[in-house]
Amino acid sequence: MRTPIIAGNWKCNMRLGSAYQLANDLRERVDEITGIEKIICPPFIYLATVEAAIAMSSVHLGAQDTHWQDDVAATGEIGPQQLEELVDYVIVGHSERRHVFGETDEAVNRKVKAVLDVNLQPIMCVGETLDEREAGQTESVLVRQTGLGVDGAGIPDGFIIAYEPVWAIGTGRAATADDAEQAIALIRSEVAAKFGDPKAQTVRILYGGSVTPDNIAGFMERKQIDGALVGGASLKADTFAAIIEAAACVRG
Ligand code: PGA
Repeated sequence: MRTPIIAGNWKCNMRLGSAYQLANDLRERVDEITGIEKIICPPFIYLATVEAAIAMSSVHLGAQDTHWQDDVAATGEIGPQQLEELVDYVIVGHSERRHVFGETDEAVNRKVKAVLDVNLQPIMCVGETLDEREAGQTESVLVRQTGLGVDGAGIPDGFIIAYEPVWAIGTGRAATADDAEQAIALIRSEVAAKFGDPKAQTVRILYGGSVTPDNIAGFMERKQIDGALVGGASLKADTFAAIIEAAACVRG
């Protein structure tokens, strides 16, 4: 049985006060909901504040990225051991890191391994751009990003991958549940090819891209889809709580 996950990625949003408020409101709304792993990923600078707001609750904390090393000359970066003191999860290889900041598959792979080395859970993102989709390259992109991302990583049971088609992120144009399910099945088969089917069956594969309270149930109804990574709709306690409630209603 794979425990479903709803994770919120706040990206570069909020200020100190609003970050605390959002985390606090969310804790009040969703703390009692069971059967779903609930995660919020604020900007680095608010991690400690949000940690205080959700302390002793069932809401978990994640970071949005990491460097692959600690204790090195890497101005502006945060290392996995530093994160390990505060968070349980780390998003790695988000499409904005790949496409805005030029992160390569090799860098994603180093980060995945570094995160696993300190016993944190990576949320490894993969997904094709619109150009790649229109050129019929969706499958090859997903196979490449998944295969290289986990290469040599020795992934634990329950490892988390997020399928996030780049064209669906922040556009209001979510993938259909059919398309998401098909892509996720392909990602799972690539994991199976590397690590065997029993391991692949434990891997949680989320959908991300314009998830809302209105479309989440359609994704959760698909057995292959183990939850969602949510951007815009995670910035308000009402909408994010509604997504968690709807997900729990289908799968909790
Ligand atoms: P979105 O972002 O929900 O705003 O489309 C998803 C993500 O980038 O993780």
